Amino acid sequence: MRVLVTGSGGYIGAVLCRLLQTMNYEIVGLDTGYFKSCDFCDRPSKIPTIKKDIRSIEKADIQGFDAVIHLAALSNDPLGSLDATLTDDINTCASLRLAAIAKEQQVKKFLFSSSCSIYGAGKDFSLNEEAQFNPQTPYARSKVDVEAGLRELASDTFSPVFLRNATAFGFSPRMRFDLVVNNLTGWVFTTGKIKMASDGTPWRPLVHVNDIARAFLFVLDAPQQTVNLQAYNIGYNDQNFQIKDIAFSLQEFFPHCSVEFGQPSGDTRTYHVDFTKFNTSFPSFQKGRKTLREGVKDLLEHFAKTALSEPTFRSRLYTRLEQIRYLQLVGKLDEKLYWK
Ligand SMILES: NC(=O)c1ccc[n+]([C@@H]2O[C@H](COP(=O)([O-])OP(=O)(O)OC[C@H]3O[C@@H](n4cnc5c(N)ncnc54)[C@H](O)[C@@H]3O)[C@@H](O)[C@H]2O)c1
Repeated sequence: MRVLVTGSGGYIGAVLCRLLQTMNYEIVGLDTGYFKSCDFCDRPSKIPTIKKDIRSIEKADIQGFDAVIHLAALSNDPLGSLDATLTDDINTCASLRLAAIAKEQQVKKFLFSSSCSIYGAGKDFSLNEEAQFNPQTPYARSKVDVEAGLRELASDTFSPVFLRNATAFGFSPRMRFDLVVNNLTGWVFTTGKIKMASDGTPWRPLVHVNDIARAFLFVLDAPQQTVNLQAYNIGYNDQNFQIKDIAFSLQEFFPHCSVEFGQPSGDTRTYHVDFTKFNTSFPSFQKGRKTLREGVKDLLEHFAKTALSEPTFRSRLYTRLEQIRYLQLVGKLDEKLYWK
């Protein structure tokens, strides 16, 4: 199977492409390269890559693929809030144009990396795929809008699938410390303390980055008609946590660490999610999964290997918004995030 992976140079992309390579898929990456100099502890695997902005994609870029896995985006809430119009241009408009071209080019499956953040300020526990959307940010809104646009593009031969990923954690050669588990683990490793900006009461479902990659593989391999237009929450029912409990769970590894809380932040995002559908549809998803504890242990091993210091942990290289702002500040990216 020949697969195009957009956002191949990002946190999930680096892990997913390596997995696809080991499973002998023929893959081509596509990425504009915002994080090309942000390796951590390891390097992403070498794969043929189209260096291009998704806003500039042409038909020729999408020829001869059986499937597209679409990861490229301004991909978290703080970055998505830098400029809401830009987030709409990149995350929504460019994604839907890409999908329209893919359909024209007879791509069969279009796997969209959506997010559980579309449930936003979730009022109930165990929100399943039928739950009402309640996006709280431009980033989450873009995921809702792309899912809606893709539904309109679907046909007998073009099958969009929505993978609504939980909040990722774990090691990737394109590391991110702006993700809650990676961030708290980095704090405690480098300072012996856990410092939280908020009171830690919001709920977040967590999923290891390797398990997100595995989920994409299950969908790639599934018969087209069984996954056509399906939305799946990607994660595990026992991996919903209040953020303060993530912090306390780190005390197993650092028994003497202090945990400091901030004030309620006014951030309305909280969601507790039900993952039964994907786990029932793909029972093997349970096998080889990584729990929060296992993922943290693995992170700590990588931190020890590189002797992670506080300045490196806090550097722009591993925080999306900081890296993008830096590239603008030094004049490499323009205000629309095109390379100059
Ligand atoms: N990481 C998570 O916790 C999480 C959770 C749910 C959903 N997702 C979604 O999964 C996808 C991948 O997330 P990630 O964590 O790997 O993000 P990331 O920011 O690490 O990677 C995104 C990649 O897309 C590229 N990119 C951004 N804008 C582009 C553009 N205009 N043209 C071409 N390439 C562009 C970047 O260079 C980067 O390499 C995103 O769509 C994100 O919204 C992530």
